[in-house]
Amino acid sequence: MILSPSLLSSDFGRLAEELCALEEAGLSWVHWDIMDGSFVPNLTFGPPIIARLRPRSGLFFDVHLMMEAPERHLATFRDAGADMLVVHAEATVHLQRTLAEIRRLGMQAGVALNPASPLSMLEYVLDDVDMVLVMSVNPGFGGQRFLFPTYAKIRLLREMLDARGLDMHIEVDGGVDPDNAAELLRCGADVLVSGSAFFNFPPYAQRRAAFEKAAGMAK
Ligand code: DX5
Ligand code: ZN
Repeated sequence: MILSPSLLSSDFGRLAEELCALEEAGLSWVHWDIMDGSFVPNLTFGPPIIARLRPRSGLFFDVHLMMEAPERHLATFRDAGADMLVVHAEATVHLQRTLAEIRRLGMQAGVALNPASPLSMLEYVLDDVDMVLVMSVNPGFGGQRFLFPTYAKIRLLREMLDARGLDMHIEVDGGVDPDNAAELLRCGADVLVSGSAFFNFPPYAQRRAAFEKAAGMAK
């Protein structure tokens, strides 16, 4: 299990300290939610903030782009220090080209699906991705309630990947907490994003342990 805490629920006035605290608590990934006020109603941060924090953190930067036409900004996010760039299948017309471009720029490529989007949207791009992000809430805000059809969707996706001999990350994002973590891992997810259920319960090392315990129960 990889736990990727979503900075959306962190203290934006102390981002550098928050990143340090995550590393000290033994985390290896961090999830950045980039919102454009169009694809999703909310706005957050952009590349200049990531760029200023990149030299201060050794964490793997998992960058979730909730924006229309993300292909306009791929190189900017690469230059800012993103390790993984996740684009929404619903937000770009030329999805395959966008994913291939992310890899060409030297980053790992991820594709995200909204709760209502079918797995068939991934059918012809699976060879171009390192991770599929399954949204378990409608993107835009932290602290929303987990949508239960996500379990079946992840199970089906893992079957689809196995049938093709593809071993890639399945990340789940939205309403994830230590109570549903075990079932999500059992269904086939291996990267858990957690915002409010992580940052609202310090100390972070203890919260991480709660997720690790859930992962132990999944085995
Ligand atoms: C939602 C974001 C999530 C969000 C999750 O649009 O993509 O990453 O931060 O927050 P929680 O874990 O509070 O649902
Ligand atoms: Zn996210």
